[in-house]
Amino acid sequence: MNYGKANLLDLLSIEQLERDCFPTEAFNRRLVKNLLINPKSVIIKATIPAGKIVGDIIGITKKEPSVSVGRIFSLCVLEEYRKKGIAGRLLRLLEEEFYLNSIRRIFLEVSARNLTAQKFYQRHGYFTTSSILPNFYKDGSDAFVMSKNLP
Ligand SMILES: CC(C)(COP(=O)(O)OP(=O)(O)OC[C@H]1O[C@@H](n2cnc3c(N)ncnc32)[C@H](O)[C@@H]1OP(=O)(O)O)[C@@H](O)C(=O)NCCC(=O)NCCS
Repeated sequence: MNYGKANLLDLLSIEQLERDCFPTEAFNRRLVKNLLINPKSVIIKATIPAGKIVGDIIGITKKEPSVSVGRIFSLCVLEEYRKKGIAGRLLRLLEEEFYLNSIRRIFLEVSARNLTAQKFYQRHGYFTTSSILPNFYKDGSDAFVMSKNLP
């Protein structure tokens, strides 16, 4: 498996990947394009030797006067490639990227119904904050906000 930053040439593959992982919530092409070219965002991809992208993680940095925070916008691994540690590796790479950009706190939203993802993030040191975003997703589910402080 190869890991690296995605670029505009990956636009259609990333768009398809998001659709495969999030049938009702997938980002549209315009948003994916913005995320690929915006210097404040980064998409890290996992690619098999044949060249197919099978996973990605999308992060955005938000620099505020007093504190810089990172937000994990999306994390996706194709079903047949799960439980092999790919998401764990993508998450670590994004955390390193954030760290190099002076980010010391990371946030993300996760569906209250997505226990797999909640467990995954907990195992990687994220805690569930007290903030709940009602009706955050198109299927009507709430989002929990999870967070991690980088050392
Ligand atoms: C959540 C998601 C990204 C996890 O991807 P993944 O690549 O399967 O994640 P990992 O392989 O790193 O870890 C998942 C599990 O596999 C296990 N695992 C990792 N490597 C393994 C290996 N070599 N052999 C067996 N199991 C392994 C991990 O221990 C982990 O177990 P746990 O969840 O019970 O703690 C994936 O399920 C997904 O894309 N879901 C749909 C989209 C989504 O919900 N995204 C998150 C919300 S934004």
